Amino acid sequence: MAFDYTEFIDNEYKDHKVYSMLAGMEKNGNRKKLLQKLADIEKTHSEFWQKYAPNHRPKVSNTYIRLLAFLRVFLGVTFVVKMLEKHEKTTMQKYIQIAEALGPGNPERN
Ligand SMILES: [Fe+2]
Repeated sequence: MAFDYTEFIDNEYKDHKVYSMLAGMEKNGNRKKLLQKLADIEKTHSEFWQKYAPNHRPKVSNTYIRLLAFLRVFLGVTFVVKMLEKHEKTTMQKYIQIAEALGPGNPERN
């Protein structure tokens, strides 16, 4: 069973870009480091899925990034991070469903 991994690559890369944007806007040093660390983690997630679609180049809407920058300014960093965390939980559920569909021993699972 083959899956379209490009959606996963794009989603993880999008989260990487949002956390990078939040880190760039952050004035508090500790919070800035934490946001950059989260950006780095999301990049590794994107790179993980990239193995399954090596020719895909991740795409991120600049409008989406600007919208979240706007939300960051007017609603705060906590609001945006909670949005991203909620999205990450939903994404993890999809990954679990795929792992279950592939089953143990399936080479696509690793
Ligand atoms: Fe992620």
